Amino acid sequence: MHEGLHRALAGALLLALLPACGGGGDRVSFFNTEEWAVLRTLSPLPAVPADPTNEFSEDAAAGDLGRKYYFDPRFSGPLVDPANAVPPGGNGAVGTVGTISCSRCHNPATGFTDRRSVPGNTSLGAGFTGRHAPTIYNVAYNTWFFWDGRKDSLWSQALGPTMSPVEHNGNRAQFAMVIRDHYKAEHEAVFGPLPATVAALDSILLFPTPPVPPDFPAQGRPGDSLDPLAGGFPAYDGLTAQEKRDVDTVFVHFGKAIAAYERRVLSTNSAFDRYVAGNEDAIPTAAKRGLKLFFGKAKCSTCHSGPNLTDGKFHSIGVSQSGPSIPAGDDGRMNGIPTVVADVFNGKGAFSADAMAGAAKLAGLGSTPDPAQQGKFKTPTLRSIGETGPYMHTGAIASLLEVVAFYNRGGDPGGFSGTNELAPLGLSFAEMQDLVAFLETLEGEELPASVTAPPVLPP
Ligand code: HEC
Ligand code: HEC
Repeated sequence: MHEGLHRALAGALLLALLPACGGGGDRVSFFNTEEWAVLRTLSPLPAVPADPTNEFSEDAAAGDLGRKYYFDPRFSGPLVDPANAVPPGGNGAVGTVGTISCSRCHNPATGFTDRRSVPGNTSLGAGFTGRHAPTIYNVAYNTWFFWDGRKDSLWSQALGPTMSPVEHNGNRAQFAMVIRDHYKAEHEAVFGPLPATVAALDSILLFPTPPVPPDFPAQGRPGDSLDPLAGGFPAYDGLTAQEKRDVDTVFVHFGKAIAAYERRVLSTNSAFDRYVAGNEDAIPTAAKRGLKLFFGKAKCSTCHSGPNLTDGKFHSIGVSQSGPSIPAGDDGRMNGIPTVVADVFNGKGAFSADAMAGAAKLAGLGSTPDPAQQGKFKTPTLRSIGETGPYMHTGAIASLLEVVAFYNRGGDPGGFSGTNELAPLGLSFAEMQDLVAFLETLEGEELPASVTAPPVLPP
């Protein structure tokens, strides 16, 4: 109501000003009524949707704690790739522990993405990842997580990179010990007392001659029994069912806290939003022309739809698998579906706060790879897109103009699995520049330091 009134008033004011503006024809709304109806599907960004599977998602103390977990490199294991020894992108000498945090690859200072990675390469954690790190902006609006959607909640997503041998290369038993040793009071204030197993982990898991420094005392990943890094001693797999369950509970709480923090990482109130709200001058004319192309001739909004500028679905747009750390083949969503269905940390599992809601979301997904999904990747948000390059799941494209040129030629000629859905667009160079001008208006307002600044970590 208020918005409509505002827009009507702004319109009346502009009309009154027109004669004095001479040739300022574009000051009369650039878009007709039907076009405005389309624009209102793209803005404003609504409130962050609820996550029924995470009972702590709206808990302020959980979010504050999650921010610390997000920035704390103590939740990580030994570096494995020798590239790590090379500054400034490297994280330290091979074998060094405690250098990788979420913020290393999703850095608030660079659009919650990883600018250490040169275009055409991926992110360097303990090793190189096989895909490019996407931004965390507006991630809480997503339905599926990762490029292939192999996670169904933000909290479950957060557990993935920590155990990945090329990211944190951590282990969940060690995480429980870091929480016990550095975060006990804060963690217990949110999640209740740590299970007794956690207090006893040293005696359960410590082996006589620790092969890695003492601050990384135990191997605790499933499948880590007789891990060579643990000197051949049984670790997580050697725990009893109850002990595993206790360690997993602490691990899940770690993920749920991080998810509560990530819900604050928002890109909103951009110049584009101010324009749709009625400020005719919020974006330049070139951007208005680009916006018209976005939902018109260039067809971007068929996939980049809704206020977060994504349909939340999976498509193949013909991005070739090229780059130093990119695997030769990547089937994307085809493997993502059976993975999320089988995940013990999915929304219908024992750690979900609402297994019914979680099961409803997973209903209809098969447990075997579906060739129809081959080579499809999740449509990413375009909010704050000027900040979050390099682009695509391979990180191969350096600039927005090159992204638009990529779409204009209908994708790469080959080098990807599945069937490319794109066709060439026939845009002129001027039209391509206009599209870029529009994309640049999607920069969100600055976030408070309470979200972006590294917090003080407990000793
Ligand atoms: C070594 C770099 C690295 C580290 C460290 C890292 N990530 Fe990521 N992150 C990635 C990459 C690469 C992907 C995409 C992987 C894929 O899709 O297969 C990703 C994907 C994500 C996504 C999915 C976004 C989306 O739109 O689906 C989220 C959320 C995320 N990471 C959060 C985290 C959190 C939380 C942590 C810390 C617990 C973390 N990441 C640690 C590199 C990293
Ligand atoms: C058929 C669906 C579809 C259409 C149409 C489409 N996109 Fe995309 N877009 C995607 C998908 C899927 C990805 C990720 C692909 C990948 O990495 O393999 C993507 C990636 C992007 C990226 C990189 C985002 C990032 O964070 O890496 C940008 C920018 C982008 N699209 C802009 C556009 C523009 C501009 C148009 C119109 C010219 C457009 N898209 C049309 C589905 C689409």
